[in-house]
Parts: sequence; C-alpha cells; structure tokens
Amino acid sequence: MHKVFISGLPKVELHLHIEGSLEPELMFKLAKRNNVDIPFNSPEEVAQAYKFDSLQSFLDIYYQGANVLIHEQDFFDLTWEYLLRCKQDNVIHTEIFFDPQTHTDRGIAFDTVINGIDKALKQAKQQLNISSHLIMSFLRHLDEDSAFNTLEQAKPYQDKIIAVGLDSSELGNPPEKFERIFQQAIKQGYLTVAHAGEEGPASYISDALNLLSISRIDHGVRCIDDKTLLDKLISQQIPLTVCPLSNVKLCVFNDMTQHNIVELLRMGVCVTINSDDPAYFGGYMTSNFLSLAQAHEMNLKEIAQFTYNAIQASFINDAEKARLNKTTYEYVSRFID
Ligand code: ADE
Ligand code: ZN
Repeated sequence: MHKVFISGLPKVELHLHIEGSLEPELMFKLAKRNNVDIPFNSPEEVAQAYKFDSLQSFLDIYYQGANVLIHEQDFFDLTWEYLLRCKQDNVIHTEIFFDPQTHTDRGIAFDTVINGIDKALKQAKQQLNISSHLIMSFLRHLDEDSAFNTLEQAKPYQDKIIAVGLDSSELGNPPEKFERIFQQAIKQGYLTVAHAGEEGPASYISDALNLLSISRIDHGVRCIDDKTLLDKLISQQIPLTVCPLSNVKLCVFNDMTQHNIVELLRMGVCVTINSDDPAYFGGYMTSNFLSLAQAHEMNLKEIAQFTYNAIQASFINDAEKARLNKTTYEYVSRFID
C-alpha cells in the first residue's frame, strides 16, 4: 500500500486543532508543572480513556485535557511538539486552528495563548522550514455574544490570524447561529472556514457556504447525501478538509473501508487529508494517509492528488503554491513518470 511513497510525500495540513495535539505524556508533564488535577494516574490510563461513540463524547474529554494549558510556555511546548511531528511526516505547510474561548473562559489571557502558539510557528519557519497560518475558531456551543467578544479580543493580533472558523458540537448549532459574527469577521478582513457535515446533515454544508461565505469546508463528508450540493462542490472546486482517522474514531463511519473520501476524490471533489485531533484519534498526517491506503486501493497519482488539492485549498499566495507544487512534483516524479 505504498508505505515508502506515502512516508516521503510532501504534505500540507489544513485541519488541525492545536489543543487536539496534546499528547498524554505532555498532558501529564504540564499537569505536574502547573499543579493541575487530572482524573488519570498515568499516560497509559489516559490513552485507554480515548474511546468515543460520538463527537460530544470526544469533546468532553478534549476540553478537560486543555485545562493543563496555563502559561505561554505551555502553548509554545504544545505547538512545538506538533511541529516536530510535522517534520517527521514531511508536512511542509500547516494551517492550525486554535479555540481561544476554551482558554479565556478559564481565565487564561488571549495574549498568553496566541503568543505561545505564534512563537512556535515562527521558530518552525526558521528551524524546520515549515510554513503556517493560524485560524481562530469559535465554539459553536457558545453564544454569539461570546464569539463577538472573542473577535474583539483578537483585534490587536489580527496580523497573526488569517481566518476564523467554527467548531465544537455541530448538531443543534447550525451555521445561521453565526451569520452575523462571520459577516463582521469578513468585514474586518478575515477569511472564513467552518466545520460542517461531520455529524450534521448536508444542509449544514449548504448553509455554511451560503450564509458564512466560507472558503473551504472542514469535514463535509455528508455532502454525499445531496446531489445538487455535490455538483456545486465539484464545479466550483470548493475544498473539503477531511479527517479519516477522526471520522472512524468518532463513528462517522463504521470503519476505514466505509470512508467515502476516495469515492469523493474520484468524483472530482477537492478533498484533502488531515489529522484533526491527532493525539486523540491515533495518528498524525502520515498515519492518516497510511490508514486510508490500507483500506482503499489507490494508485500513486491518486495519493499525490491529496497533496496537490491541499496546496490549492491552502491560504498561501500563488507564488508559494507554485513552489510547493514544484516540490511535490519533483518528489512524485521519482516514483512515476
Ligand atoms: N474540535 C476539535 N475537534 C473537533 C471536531 N472534529 N469537530 C468539531 N469540533 C472539534
Ligand atoms: Zn476539526
């Protein structure tokens, strides 16, 4: 299943929650360093607890894990560990979500969070040659006022944030709840993305496109239920940032053989592979590619297309896109001509 090709393939990640890259070992280290109680006795016990039957069952544990993040150094360490994993997996560009409300609601200052993350991203550019963008995600289970408050707090840091997003509990929190905040964010110059069609219906994807003017859809796998929507995604090449291991872990699909991303790729949808919350779902970028390739027979051209799609769907400029396309092409040409 093309293990060598996949391992070395240049990759671009567009759907990664930095809080979801908190490995059990770092959780323990930070809990000790910051004197925070966690309901586990060892990293092994933490890993054992990661058995989910829905998005909400995961989110409950994910928000609890974030409690160990207190100081700027913690956010730096968290981000740097993720970036080292990127290097191992040949990720050359990454666009990272952070959830400020998860932290500001616990009394952690906005600037503590963003400065720690931003310093690690700058260091990664210099030391690891990994470029990045940061996306500020609103928690959709909270109200509009809280999102507006967060947008206001982000104002002094807007040069560090390329886009706003929407995550957390999807069912019952439809896109229209955030129409005004997205309008305001767009007016201020942010790009927009949103989680839609992960657990929620295809209509949430259409509504996110129509009401929130999003540049790409996070997850979006339920588009398969709506032929008109599918035709639009294909004809307008609206990207989906799909997360295979996440979808299996959260029971969006029963197992990897049931995942529809390869079907969507062959239909001409601009699908990409991403890791979502890799510390909770069993793997980073290379593991996601490998797991998919194990369950679905694909040729090298199809596998490489995930990287070309991600470059196209990213928020880098055209010159950077051309550079990453060239890097990828040179790599792929060593295997196929
Ligand atoms: N927050 C972190 N991971 C998420 C996911 N997969 N869906 C919605 N919100 C999230
Ligand atoms: Zn996500």
